[in-house]
Amino acid sequence: MRVLSGIQPTGRPHWGNYFGAITQYIALQKADQAFYFIANLHALTTIRDRDKLSQLTLDAAIDLLALGLDPEQATLFVQSDVPEVSELCWLLMTGAPMGLLERCHAYKDKKAKGLAAGVGLFSYPVLQSADILAYDSDTVPVGEDQVQHIEVCRDIAGSFNHQFGEVFVLPKAKVLDHTARVPGIDGEKMSKSYNNTLAVFESAKVQRKQIMRIPTDSRPLEDPKPPEGDVLYQLYSLVASDEDREQMAETYRRGNFGYGEVKKLLAAAAEAFFVEARERREQWASHPEDVRDVLAHGAAKARAKASAVLQRAQEACGIKGW
Ligand code: ADP
Ligand code: TRP
Repeated sequence: MRVLSGIQPTGRPHWGNYFGAITQYIALQKADQAFYFIANLHALTTIRDRDKLSQLTLDAAIDLLALGLDPEQATLFVQSDVPEVSELCWLLMTGAPMGLLERCHAYKDKKAKGLAAGVGLFSYPVLQSADILAYDSDTVPVGEDQVQHIEVCRDIAGSFNHQFGEVFVLPKAKVLDHTARVPGIDGEKMSKSYNNTLAVFESAKVQRKQIMRIPTDSRPLEDPKPPEGDVLYQLYSLVASDEDREQMAETYRRGNFGYGEVKKLLAAAAEAFFVEARERREQWASHPEDVRDVLAHGAAKARAKASAVLQRAQEACGIKGW
């Protein structure tokens, strides 16, 4: 089974990205053939700064390796290191209906805000389709917001197959676990666009400060409180052991506790939870040549597959073999 997903290098990971997506990708790396790539060509539709994009690309690879992506198990590479994908994108573009792309969220939302959208943003789902089809992927783990793009991919691949023969494998989306929605420090969904994030690779000291500043209600100390709806408790649940979480839930239900104490426990649990990943990150970051090696090795493996699929598509539509 080929599992494939792309991760845009648009910012450093926060708890929402980690618990909502990255940890689930990593769990799937045991699939016999897992491919993960840093989607830098997609990021170029929004990041128009050379140094920023190259730094974020390398950082994204380091972050994934530090968080447990094992290059022995999964193939990790950078999207643009497989030029066959861009070539395949053109073949798909020739048959992609305008109307289908006009209905896609990323483009529609930008237009609705009155912003000017580039052709890259408009055709973004076609490049995403090429990413998926180039490797005969059958399972694509993605967040809910990306399901539409996988449907577009199936449509485009289906009509290509219809016109030229069975060239592409039709992929299926594997929607990431919805219950993993992580609240931000203001209680809204954690998101870099809401400025309410806790960064995974923040120093323990800064993270503690951020946690101590999380706003809380003014309930009297002795009052009990249902733990489930409370941001501090929800965040604590992510990083504490089952036993500690249960104990915290009991404390909430019993009452007689202050949020200051909960925050201290949360900061300590968060530090312990991410300590190894932070150490691993420092290791990888101090040897960027090793990271580049991993990526080069991954790209070579990915290219071998993508060039075979591209050739199949080219021959089917009369671009090669005439
Ligand atoms: P952001 O909202 O910060 O811009 P992205 O849109 O880049 O995050 O999300 C990257 C991945 O992380 C997506 O798969 C998304 O589903 C997941 N994700 C982001 N925020 C959260 C969250 N608060 N809870 C769960 N998953 C999240
Ligand atoms: N569009 C995806 C996102 O924004 C990233 C992505 C690019 C992707 N190509 C892909 C995801 C192929 C899955 C498969 O999150």
